Amino acid sequence: SEGIAIITSGGDAAGMNPAVKCAAEYAAKHGLKPWLVYGGLNGLIQDKIVEADRLLVSGILHRGGTVLRSSRSKEFFEYSFREQAYQNLKKRGITKLLVIGGDGSFRALHQFYTDFGMPFAGIPATIDNDIAGTDYCLGVDTALNMIRESIDSIRDTATSFSRAFVIEVMGRHCGYLAMVSALASGAEICLTPEIPYNLDSIGARMKHQIENEGRDFILAIVAEGTKMGDYVTRWINDSIGMEARLTVLGHVQRGGSPTVYDRIMAYKFSVAAVESLISGQENAIMVYRKGAFGHLPISEVCDNKYEMDPSIVRLCKPLSE
Ligand code: F6P
Repeated sequence: SEGIAIITSGGDAAGMNPAVKCAAEYAAKHGLKPWLVYGGLNGLIQDKIVEADRLLVSGILHRGGTVLRSSRSKEFFEYSFREQAYQNLKKRGITKLLVIGGDGSFRALHQFYTDFGMPFAGIPATIDNDIAGTDYCLGVDTALNMIRESIDSIRDTATSFSRAFVIEVMGRHCGYLAMVSALASGAEICLTPEIPYNLDSIGARMKHQIENEGRDFILAIVAEGTKMGDYVTRWINDSIGMEARLTVLGHVQRGGSPTVYDRIMAYKFSVAAVESLISGQENAIMVYRKGAFGHLPISEVCDNKYEMDPSIVRLCKPLSE
């Protein structure tokens, strides 16, 4: 039977493992032979392709990261390496690809499709939630829960000491994690690339609360993409006059057992992706919009910028001014 290769690529995200398991099982049940690619796109080039069996995909759904491992492949940009990857698939009778990753990975696969006509389906997976056309990417809920737990913990020490804490959260260019976690954890300040912020008015708001309302601690969430963590920490210390500390949450945000939501979304995305390949679609990215699953041609995903949920932006604006 026709082979389908399953790859995880780019930054790892919780939910990748349940997606791999579900996709392999669903494909096998529907007449395709599932293969697993180890090491992302580099693994495709280096021929790390193994036929999936029950054992390889058992005991993985509760684990964070990706048991298939991942990479951000530079070689895949070169035609000769892509040709190598194509030969590795061809000799095994693999005619379809399922890629679980971010938009960089989708772009690479689109190039691969243009070169060799190899049909693929994409499942959006990145904690950044920055893929155009979908409201949700796998891994976001788990990352938000990791962040929420860290901020709750920092709040305990902040309120015990009359201190300000600046917490930098991930999101290469995207403020989604920062906005949602600032709201969920009741932060006073939130700085993101998407919402213009005004330190003067933020400073006045904080001073007013300190002088009139008994405020004696501050939580400020800063998106990685603003590169403002250090600056804001010094600014709170010097201008607002409250002792301030910076916590860069870093890669703890990428790990952890996938939440129930990410597991179920992984299953739904995987079924949609395998079905789209079976029905003959050749370069579709699965999307979840307004509560429903669908798919978009790769060009619509890669040529557009993600749009931030306007209701989240509206709620967050007061934290930026
Ligand atoms: O895209 C996911 C992400 O975690 C971003 O939030 C962050 O900017 C980047 O990856 C970090 O990359 P690396 O894991 O290569 O350090």
